[in-house]
Amino acid sequence: EKQGFRHFMVKEIYEQPGVVRTCLEAYLNHQWNPDSDQSPINLGIPTELYSDLEHIQIVACGTSWHAGLVGKYLLQELAQIHTNIEYASEFRYSPPPITANTLTIGITQSGETADTLAALAMVKERRENQPAKYQAKLLGITNRVDSSLASIVPDLIDTRAGIEIGVAATKSFIAQLMAFYFLALDLAYHRKTLSNVQIEEIITELRQLPAQIEIILESQERYIEELAHEFTETTDFIFVGRGINYPIALEGALKLKEISYIHAEGYPSGELKHGPIALLDAKVPVVAIAMPGKVYEKTLSNAQEAKARDSRLIGVIAMDDKEAAETFDELLPVPQVNELLSPVLTVIPLQLLSYHIAARRGLDVDQPRNLAKSVTVE
Ligand code: M6R
Repeated sequence: EKQGFRHFMVKEIYEQPGVVRTCLEAYLNHQWNPDSDQSPINLGIPTELYSDLEHIQIVACGTSWHAGLVGKYLLQELAQIHTNIEYASEFRYSPPPITANTLTIGITQSGETADTLAALAMVKERRENQPAKYQAKLLGITNRVDSSLASIVPDLIDTRAGIEIGVAATKSFIAQLMAFYFLALDLAYHRKTLSNVQIEEIITELRQLPAQIEIILESQERYIEELAHEFTETTDFIFVGRGINYPIALEGALKLKEISYIHAEGYPSGELKHGPIALLDAKVPVVAIAMPGKVYEKTLSNAQEAKARDSRLIGVIAMDDKEAAETFDELLPVPQVNELLSPVLTVIPLQLLSYHIAARRGLDVDQPRNLAKSVTVE
């Protein structure tokens, strides 16, 4: 069933263009045009979830938390709605005060993560018997609509990635990101925070993502496999990104530590100089995501700070970006794209890098030590 791939993880990485296509097919309203009076998005969730909405809180764990953090940037930027994200395991024991007109989103690939389910159940219980505006509005985002999540949350977005076997989440993460693009655009449409023409532009760009992921897979895989050989003995990695690519730095670091057992940390680039820079030397490579956009120049100058400490610099950059190409020692180029959509592309070379390092180290990529596909205990 690995269809010629060595591991499920790499097979699932290669399934990602198809997953994005499936999501686009399922959730875009294909009749829509900027003159029509319906939403361009069809998530199949009741619009009452959106009424009088003032605040969104997201609860999740692990990679799903990273997708939620991308979601927070999208919901704030596109739909202008105040959004918080919490680790479900923290939220349970330090719940925030109950705010009015709040939508709580639980995001879990498996739909079985104990902390995420318990956090959602707690929101439901605490908000029972409250005045109407404090009542719980709950939404689940999951790859398993048949999971325990469905018994807690009445409305679900099905991420449609298909069964994921590798313990390291890859295609399910990409599908979670897609769910947040659709949710943010649907909310932007209903809240009128974007014009229909602006929404149409973003949809046009979303439609290009599958082919752009294919370009990365085709052009980068061989090179990344070679590059990975150089890091089989490395003991520490730092990943940095800013803005909407900060969660991707976290995700790149999580993937690497999960399957290769190399110590890796993700930081917002601007935080490097507030402590982590003390770790840097020629033995600690730095992977920086430096895509064109509003934090581009700052990100490059943060990367240069690392270079001055002799760190080997690996840049996830836009293809044809000469300035960035000169800054980095190794280049992981991805197609040029709207900054808000870039996480869907920038995560791909990082998945491949962690995969090839772990495979090169001869590790059990699909079943890493100490980990389970779903964490059903606290
Ligand atoms: O099933 P969930 O999305 O709730 O799982 C949450 C985490 O346990 C999960 O994302 C974990 O971090 C993955 N192994 C990451 O690759």
